[in-house]
Amino acid sequence: MTHQAGQALDRLTTTLEAHGPVVLPALLLCDFGHLAHEVERLESAGAVALHLDVMDGQFVPQLTYGQVVIEAVRKATRVPIETHLMVEDPERVIELYAKLGSDIVTIHIEALSDPRRALETLSSLGCRAHLAISPGTPVERLEPYLDACDGVLVMSVEPGYGGQRFNPVALEKLAWLAAARSRRNASFRLGVDGGISTETIGLVAAAGAELIVAGSAVIRSADYGRALTELEALARAAA
Ligand code: DX5
Ligand code: ZN
Repeated sequence: MTHQAGQALDRLTTTLEAHGPVVLPALLLCDFGHLAHEVERLESAGAVALHLDVMDGQFVPQLTYGQVVIEAVRKATRVPIETHLMVEDPERVIELYAKLGSDIVTIHIEALSDPRRALETLSSLGCRAHLAISPGTPVERLEPYLDACDGVLVMSVEPGYGGQRFNPVALEKLAWLAAARSRRNASFRLGVDGGISTETIGLVAAAGAELIVAGSAVIRSADYGRALTELEALARAAA
């Protein structure tokens, strides 16, 4: 991780601590024909970090993008990038994505054979190491690794597509994780991804979510700035 990336992450942490939850726009549904322009629009709309969905057509049905697009986004912005790896056998590629300049690399518990080792590899490369969990996976499966991760991303839709309906099972998981965190006096961040809208964002913020991913709610709106401001205001009012 470069020094600049470290500073960008520090700004994200400061924002979280001063103002409460932040919204990370997911680029999945954006206009990839004008990628740099989309990134610039999101940055000038006030996005403090971006969420990039890498899907391999194996772990999830859809095939999205990989290294080349992450590199292009890295060149186009200085805000932190969360790379959400929805791939089989993520251990093969975590080092690559860390070295491409992802500030946060998020890996699925369901896809890992040795979660602790993968998290330690990411940390040793200077990345924040986050664990993602799909709606059908019991939250207790994360317990043995909570001391080794910097954050958890609770999926509130089945990973694979943007624009799906929010699954409230995420609220129970967020509440469980928030309780586990205070019990252990730990400091991992709580994230949520999928189906976030003006109707659902208050619920996840009240349940403890701090890094809130929003795809369609931002990208399908005519005015990214207005959408982000509204979502963040609702999250902060509910947190
Ligand atoms: C789904 C992805 C999400 C997606 C969210 O597999 O992980 O990040 O882009 O899109 P919305 O907010 O539309 O559910
Ligand atoms: Zn995602």
